[in-house]
Amino acid sequence: PVPVVLDCDPGHDDMFAILLAAAHPGIDLLAVTTVAGNGPLDKVTHNALRICTAAGLHGIPVAAGADRALAGGQDTAPRIHGDSALDGTELPEPEIPLAADDAVTVTARLLETASRPVTIAATGPLTNVASLLRDRPDLTEKIERIVFMGGSTGRGNRTPLAEFNIWADPEAADIVLRSGLPLLMCGLDVTHQALAGPEVFARLRAIGGGLAATCAASLEFYGNAYREVYGMPAPPLHDPVAIAAIVAPEVVRCVEAPVAVELTGEHTRGATVVDLYRVTGARPNAQVALELDRERFWDLMLDAVRTLADR
Ligand code: BDR
Ligand code: CA
Repeated sequence: PVPVVLDCDPGHDDMFAILLAAAHPGIDLLAVTTVAGNGPLDKVTHNALRICTAAGLHGIPVAAGADRALAGGQDTAPRIHGDSALDGTELPEPEIPLAADDAVTVTARLLETASRPVTIAATGPLTNVASLLRDRPDLTEKIERIVFMGGSTGRGNRTPLAEFNIWADPEAADIVLRSGLPLLMCGLDVTHQALAGPEVFARLRAIGGGLAATCAASLEFYGNAYREVYGMPAPPLHDPVAIAAIVAPEVVRCVEAPVAVELTGEHTRGATVVDLYRVTGARPNAQVALELDRERFWDLMLDAVRTLADR
């Protein structure tokens, strides 16, 4: 299995990312770390602890990280995820302690002691990941690659051109994109193909039990929000696409391209500028996922829920 640290801001779709990472035998989940994003840090951390409790993820550290972006300030997404960042979802109260150390310290310690390089999966703003790269350059060779949900080759969802995770901390994204480490970007191009339509609800119902019901309730809240805010009939389940791409690389079709993030544009701050046609002559720094094998993705995601429900 691939050793993975999952940095997230749960968040409905982050919950599914945690469940997939917890259940899939192809991942050795070393830690779950949190970053302010969909909600303030205390709320997303509380959610992470509840999700890990529901997933039976005892024995791995859950650590809280940055409560604001590198440049200060913090955007949240209550219109999509509700005030708790996970509205409409019934989860147990945490039975897992919060790690005494912060996310960067916990991740650094895991990297120091890891017997092989670790994959960092990031499904929230990239603040913690950037802080780790900035503060512990000695550890970069212990990072296998960074797989993140964020960005887009075209339109955004937080501003016309910026996707939420990148918009929430563009300076952090800039550090990650310039790091020279292997990167896989799972942006809106591919995550907007992971739509949770009625057949997903039917398959969750068929699994039965408490966890599947929790997942269905989460998707219902999230789906209503997407309908109201974006007019989309089915919600894109962004974050688990990044996890699926780790366990089953063929689930996404990627191209290698130079990717930069706009830091100063009047209308475009937080936009990922992806040179798909290679017109800049810049060196490619990331694999960019463009297409999703939808059937395979949903099989992986729903198998994960079934596995955890049976445990
Ligand atoms: C991203 O923003 C968040 O609201 C989701 O959890 C996902 O990580 C999608 O733009
Ligand atoms: Ca997220």
